[in-house]
Amino acid sequence: MINKKILSAGIAVVILLVLVVGARVWLFQPEDQIKGVSIPEGVHDPAEWGKFYPLEYRSYLKNREMAPSPTGFGGSEKVQKALMEPANLMNFKGYGFSKDYTEDRGHPYAVEDLRETKRVTPKTTGACMTCKTAQLGDIFREKGWAYAKMPLAELLPLLKHPITCSNCHDPKTMNLRVMNPAFIEAMAKRGIDVSKASNKEMRSYVCGQCHVEYYFEPETFHVVFPWGKGLQPEQIYDYYAAKPAGFVQDWVHPDSQTKMIKAQHPDFETWSTGTHGMAGVACADCHMPFMRDGGRKYSSHWVTSPMRTVEASCRTCHTQTEAWLLSRVKTTQGHVWDMQRRAGTTVSQAHEAIARAAAAADVKGEELDKARELLRRAQWYWDIVSAENSMGFHNPSQVLNTLGRSVDLAHQAIATANRATVGAGRK
Ligand code: HEC
Ligand code: HEC
Ligand code: HEC
Ligand code: HEC
Repeated sequence: MINKKILSAGIAVVILLVLVVGARVWLFQPEDQIKGVSIPEGVHDPAEWGKFYPLEYRSYLKNREMAPSPTGFGGSEKVQKALMEPANLMNFKGYGFSKDYTEDRGHPYAVEDLRETKRVTPKTTGACMTCKTAQLGDIFREKGWAYAKMPLAELLPLLKHPITCSNCHDPKTMNLRVMNPAFIEAMAKRGIDVSKASNKEMRSYVCGQCHVEYYFEPETFHVVFPWGKGLQPEQIYDYYAAKPAGFVQDWVHPDSQTKMIKAQHPDFETWSTGTHGMAGVACADCHMPFMRDGGRKYSSHWVTSPMRTVEASCRTCHTQTEAWLLSRVKTTQGHVWDMQRRAGTTVSQAHEAIARAAAAADVKGEELDKARELLRRAQWYWDIVSAENSMGFHNPSQVLNTLGRSVDLAHQAIATANRATVGAGRK
């Protein structure tokens, strides 16, 4: 009898618990999931998605706002980087980045900025649109990697939508997804099956499909992430040094005659070994924080500087004041900016020193080649920091180490170039 009573009381408690937990889960679910809407694949206009997800859509529209960042670095305005760092002009001489290289702005501008950049020439291939549009999925399904080799001029008229909802969401389930085949392939080579990733991992992977270093394979223009040896600056350099698929250089510097590699925005790589990346803090934790509108909790889709939303982006974990956090970020960035300019300037002096040495009569060619290799490496270490978007915040100690190496290698390049002319007369 007693046992039965205890049993039925136990069952009653369990049922009550299930009801309470169930009600809580059901009641506190975002409206959208309850509606169970399903947008067909191939619809890329964010306004169409916005009809079902108004809060996310409204915050996405804020990506069109243009303003300087609270730190004074980065920001959402399209300004030429060379105005702040004149060494860019010398270091990228002979390459498109010396003509046009602007600060990044919001996702809705991606296609417009691709159309307008002076870096695009009649020879530019389709590979360049990989990270600019939600239509990549449709184009890849239709053409496979062949799109990468097509002239960009042929694809541009087809591009009606920049980076929008479908870049990151499966329209049927609204689950996060990765669209860029280059990311899926690069992760597979590292033994990671992206289709099995956890939601937490996807909160960074959706960004990692574009905010990374990459190159185009010669001939095919297949987009490849150079991660075969690891994600650190020296490991990526070593990967390139092995001339993958015959890839040697992006361009030859006209003054120093050095075979150069251009680094591209390695935000994902830099973050991955930084304080926050190692602690499992995802890109979206800071750049897409949870907000509230009335009783509704949603992810901000205004993907910009988290220092505009310190309360929601940082104070979920940090107990310090907003002012303290802003000042810590600015201190880190100030140190990195100072070293970055020193490195950039020393690298440009190395281009000059090698050009001067090469003009000398009886210059020792072997020494000069050594100087060029030192310079190539020095510029890589400067550029991989300079091209990263957080001015060091994503990984302060690694970034300062990388810049230190750059300065050291650039000085070695200058000394080696000078040695190459010792005993040689002037032409
Ligand atoms: C750059 C990638 C990206 C883009 C573009 C994007 N989202 Fe999201 N979205 C996310 C991430 C990350 C989350 C958080 C998901 C999680 O943790 O489960 C999210 C969450 C959501 C959610 C779930 C509820 C919430 O707010 O957390 C909805 C609904 C949503 N997004 C709608 C949209 C709509 C509509 C658009 C286009 C206007 C869009 N998203 C564009 C990355 C993106
Ligand atoms: C499909 C490729 C793609 C994806 C996915 C993507 N980005 Fe971007 N992102 C870009 C490009 C391209 C730009 C520069 C656009 C321009 O300047 O025209 C950019 C710009 C930005 C900016 C600068 C905005 C500003 O206000 O200055 C931030 C911050 C950013 N992305 C963070 C993220 C985060 C965080 C994620 C993941 C949640 C993400 N991005 C996903 C390609 C992408
Ligand atoms: C711990 C928080 C945090 C995480 C995690 C984080 N970021 Fe950032 N990110 C920042 C801060 C802070 C800045 C500097 C903003 C400024 O100077 O205003 C920044 C800057 C950026 C910028 C440049 C914004 C601009 O104004 O031009 C981009 C792009 C970016 N992050 C992308 C990413 C990506 C991609 C990831 C994940 C791989 C990531 N971030 C992870 C905090 C974070
Ligand atoms: C999800 C939790 C989380 C969020 C969100 C977060 N942080 Fe952190 N942060 C950490 C952890 C964990 C550490 C390392 C341990 C510690 O110092 O407490 C850290 C360390 C730091 C440090 C010292 C180490 C370094 O790399 O300089 C600073 C500064 C910092 N965070 C600033 C920020 C700012 C600014 C934001 C918002 C843009 C932010 N954090 C968002 C968890 C977070």
